Amino acid sequence: MSKPVLVAGNFKANEVRPGDWLSAFRGHLSQKGLLEMAGTVVVCPAYPQLSEWHEAIGSHGIFLGAQDVSSFEPGAHTGEVTAQMLKAVGVTYVLIGHSERREGLGETDAIRTKKVERATTCGFQIIYCVQNEQTFIPKGITIAAYEPPAAIGSGNPDTPENANAVAGAIIATYGVSRVLYGGSVKPDNVSAFVGQPHIGGVLVGGASLKGDVFGQLAHNAFIQA
Ligand code: PGA
Repeated sequence: MSKPVLVAGNFKANEVRPGDWLSAFRGHLSQKGLLEMAGTVVVCPAYPQLSEWHEAIGSHGIFLGAQDVSSFEPGAHTGEVTAQMLKAVGVTYVLIGHSERREGLGETDAIRTKKVERATTCGFQIIYCVQNEQTFIPKGITIAAYEPPAAIGSGNPDTPENANAVAGAIIATYGVSRVLYGGSVKPDNVSAFVGQPHIGGVLVGGASLKGDVFGQLAHNAFIQA
């Protein structure tokens, strides 16, 4: 174990409840100190489940993330969920610019930059998702997630070597301190990604929905890194 990695799970619009998920997950990380020494785990449930997850994870080395944040300040913005609201339910990480929000929802760089400002004001760690090394990244971002759209949910991940090259280019251009890889990461391929020098963790969709699978994935990532 030489570098602490970040393993983030994005449940998307799936209702994942903490009870069985957490016990199965923890079963894989029972090796003493593995989580503390080797990395950070972040779970990003849908908004209605955030409070429930906050209570369930307590102070057990798992952090709570939101899948998005409003670009607006609190006020008359029907349907929006502000950074302040997320902070009040225990969120400390936030995803911004996920591919699924870039397609069809009209999100622009200007809107994403506003979201970054709001999230920064509330002191969140931002995981800023990009599609390749040319995707614009606003100032102040420390964690980027490289997620090639064709790899998301397809079972066809990028190669670890190419992901590493893209991560290196993102670090060189934007000075971020950590780049995650995302797109069809599974328990059996995670080691190859986190073993790359420029990849500091993974952002996981489908393989995070079951605590057992995500626990195996996190375990493999922490052992390898
Ligand atoms: P996937 O999703 O792991 O299901 O490919 C990744 C993501 O969208 O972050």
